[in-house]
Amino acid sequence: MKKIVTIGLLASLMTTSLLADGVAAYKKCVGCHGANGEKVALGKSKIIKDMSKNELAIALMGYQKGTYGGAMKALMKGQVKGLSKADIDALAEMIGK
Ligand code: HEC
Repeated sequence: MKKIVTIGLLASLMTTSLLADGVAAYKKCVGCHGANGEKVALGKSKIIKDMSKNELAIALMGYQKGTYGGAMKALMKGQVKGLSKADIDALAEMIGK
């Protein structure tokens, strides 16, 4: 029983720190995507809060590699440049549903 409690506590601590990393990394996205990812950025993007965590991670990694995106993907490539896989996971966790 004690073991289960410890694992549960660890898991919740990890989620919390992942969310904190996501909040920090998301600061520079707010201007275009809105405080909660609720805006259509520059009239072009999807409403990112409606994307799943998985879709978000695929989109962000795709922008980095140049394999994802529409007319304004070059702009997003600049935004995600330098994000680590952990940053992307944290962002996806925080924004996605
Ligand atoms: C200067 C404005 C701007 C900033 C800052 C910005 N974005 Fe974007 N974002 C856009 C635009 C415009 C698009 C649509 C690009 C395209 O044509 O693919 C987009 C697309 C996206 C998409 C994919 C949605 C879709 O339409 O498929 C995700 C996910 C995303 N942005 C996340 C982020 C994150 C996370 C950050 C911060 C690290 C960020 N954006 C910063 C403008 C911005």
